[in-house]
Amino acid sequence: MAESTADLAALFDRFADEIGRAAPTYGTICRGVATEAGVLSILDGVPDPQRRPVLLLAAVHHLLLDAPDEPLADHYPSISGRPGDGDPVAAFIEFCGRRRAEIVELVSSRSTQTNDVGRATLVRIALPSTDPPARAPLGLIDLGTSAGLNLHLDRFSYRYHDEGGAEVVLGDGSPSLDCLVRGRSVSEVAPSSPVDIGLRIGIDPNPIDTSDPDQARWLQACVWADQVERLARLQVALDTVAGYRHEALILRGSGPDRLEEAVAESRAARCHPVVINTWSFTYYEGPERVRQLDMLDRLGAEGDLTWIFLEAPNETPELPWGAVDTSTSLSVLRRIDYRSGLRDETTIGIAHPHGRWLDAMDR
Ligand SMILES: C[S@@+](CC[C@H](N)C(=O)[O-])C[C@H]1O[C@@H](n2cnc3c(N)ncnc32)[C@H](O)[C@@H]1O
Repeated sequence: MAESTADLAALFDRFADEIGRAAPTYGTICRGVATEAGVLSILDGVPDPQRRPVLLLAAVHHLLLDAPDEPLADHYPSISGRPGDGDPVAAFIEFCGRRRAEIVELVSSRSTQTNDVGRATLVRIALPSTDPPARAPLGLIDLGTSAGLNLHLDRFSYRYHDEGGAEVVLGDGSPSLDCLVRGRSVSEVAPSSPVDIGLRIGIDPNPIDTSDPDQARWLQACVWADQVERLARLQVALDTVAGYRHEALILRGSGPDRLEEAVAESRAARCHPVVINTWSFTYYEGPERVRQLDMLDRLGAEGDLTWIFLEAPNETPELPWGAVDTSTSLSVLRRIDYRSGLRDETTIGIAHPHGRWLDAMDR
């Protein structure tokens, strides 16, 4: 992590290398400000895990989304609606100087947080069937739920397709999410029926309340300004979920602190508990990781339960990865079924982190 200004400058340079192709506007900005001590010092005093380029970029984006007439906004595809044109560095430095106090306030009080509904394409594949004979509706328990958008995954629509040109379309809600299935035919992998969700519980130490426009804007600001499609999809999901927010229960706290009560709620409502971690376990502290694993095994021994996770094995070696290579930084989708006291593990596949594709494994 970045302890000194030199470390931070190196972090900005490295980040520019990593994202340059996918996010040219942010790549150019990060390269340009790596040598600007005045800009980098905005992150002075920010605790280490958050002392990263993405936090500064999110804070600036947050202010710009509310001030589209700023000259810098002209360089942001998310605001101008055009691919980034011209060199944004001078405007970025000028903006950071003029609105420094507001940016410092944001980086000191917030952490970068996203909620990607694209991952619902993968979770949807992994969900247990609610067809007979299983039949019980699902009690969805999303650990690290962020804004809770994926608790409403049955309200989105899905198009799964494969390289042979076959496709499976499910539902007619919004957003419409697309996932390319590779390695197996789409008809074998895509869900074949609607899902019945009886209960929705999200757990997060820092849940985002999207009924508060400022919090919703922060969620949007954490999406990179170059990722116009992702931002548009987020907006559509926010609009869809706005009408159903009251149907989800959001519990504040760490996953293992609130999991037991969520599973108890689900069982009391005669729902089959399905616990989900998508890119959240990676943010747990070490002891919380062990606690959650022990708790799931105990809860799974006490009654039927499904646990689905989509995480990067190299960042979460504590998870039960089975035969998966734990040095990989790719996102891997796995499911653990606890049924009648027995435990069964399945690797569903290697996936795009935002659900754009799945390399399906032979289950
Ligand atoms: C990258 S976001 C992913 C959000 C969502 N799961 C998704 O896939 O879009 C990570 C989330 O994990 C949450 N988180 C961090 N530590 C956690 C913990 N100990 N227990 C539960 N959630 C945690 C963060 O607050 C954040 O909302």
